[in-house]
Amino acid sequence: MIVLGIETSCDESAVALYDSERGLLGHRLYSQIALHAQYGGVVPELASRDHVRKILPLINDLMDESGLELAQLDGLCYTAGPGLVGALLVGAAIGRSLAWALSLPAVPVHHMEGHLLAPMLEAEKPAFPFVALLVSGGHTQLVQVEGVGRYTLLGDTLDDAVGEAFDKTAKLLGLPYPGGPALAELAQRGQPDRYRFPRPMTDRPGLDFSFSGIKTFAITTWRDSPQDDPARADIAHAFQQAVVETLVIKCRRALEQSGLNELVVAGGVGANRLLRKSLEELMQSRGGRVYYPRPEFCTDNGAMIAHVGCLRLLGGEHDEAVIRARPRWPLVELSEPG
Ligand code: KG4
Ligand code: ZN
Repeated sequence: MIVLGIETSCDESAVALYDSERGLLGHRLYSQIALHAQYGGVVPELASRDHVRKILPLINDLMDESGLELAQLDGLCYTAGPGLVGALLVGAAIGRSLAWALSLPAVPVHHMEGHLLAPMLEAEKPAFPFVALLVSGGHTQLVQVEGVGRYTLLGDTLDDAVGEAFDKTAKLLGLPYPGGPALAELAQRGQPDRYRFPRPMTDRPGLDFSFSGIKTFAITTWRDSPQDDPARADIAHAFQQAVVETLVIKCRRALEQSGLNELVVAGGVGANRLLRKSLEELMQSRGGRVYYPRPEFCTDNGAMIAHVGCLRLLGGEHDEAVIRARPRWPLVELSEPG
């Protein structure tokens, strides 16, 4: 079964072709970073308009590159949520209309399920069950995964998502949007022992997160600092250290609580090198394993959407001829395909 997947939930227009037998056949991505950079963050209306401009040319390029005709597709899928409603509507309208025109089945895909199962696009895949750490611009969740669509929420953030905390702290330090990768790079040049940030909610039991306190701590630390380049790098270092250590502590707890020893890390912050290294060490010390998507599939992409769409269509899932966009869509509402 060959499936075309479309992702437009935020600021990347992305498409991919996934074949149930051969795996990923190709993918294309256009990032709107340059468009939003001048505003210091994503401007939803500009995002929607740019998706309108980019998605069809991306699909055409992808089809040309693959040597396939639209008539050879067996199904379509698109990200239906969570995300920016206007942006979602573009991918949903194009995906659903194309399926209608080609008389093909189409399914709506949950963006975070895309992230969650993205490590399965790699040659060394995790096997169910496992614990997943979902860390993106909008989510910070620990999920117990028994199979496709069988998700139990173990922990969630009470306020900011971890990517959001990275982005806001980066902005405070005067770094360009998107702040996460810029802050991570700056942190490498920081002195380790000048500042120490709190590790929120690690001194009590439980698997929930809170990152707004860390952000406030960054504001006061910056205000009371000389506000020069060394202070900028040292604060970035201390911030990243605290966030990563907090995530590692909660992952360890989630594994202990669930009795599992396989961990999957997904979502944009999963591209963070210190996080990857620290979780690698944690899993080595436990005799378990950690799985990640390749860095380009940690952040938003079409491959993860086409992959989930294919799994769900193969499982017999079939949506009515409606265009679905759900800006808020809890992951635990999903069920097994079919
Ligand atoms: O999954 P994603 O591409 O989009 C959402 O669905 O949110 O995640 C984007 C988030 C942003 O907050 C970005 O700053 C963060 O992931 N991010 C990083 C890194 N790369 C991306 N944060 C820390 N370190 C990185 N290397
Ligand atoms: Zn995402």
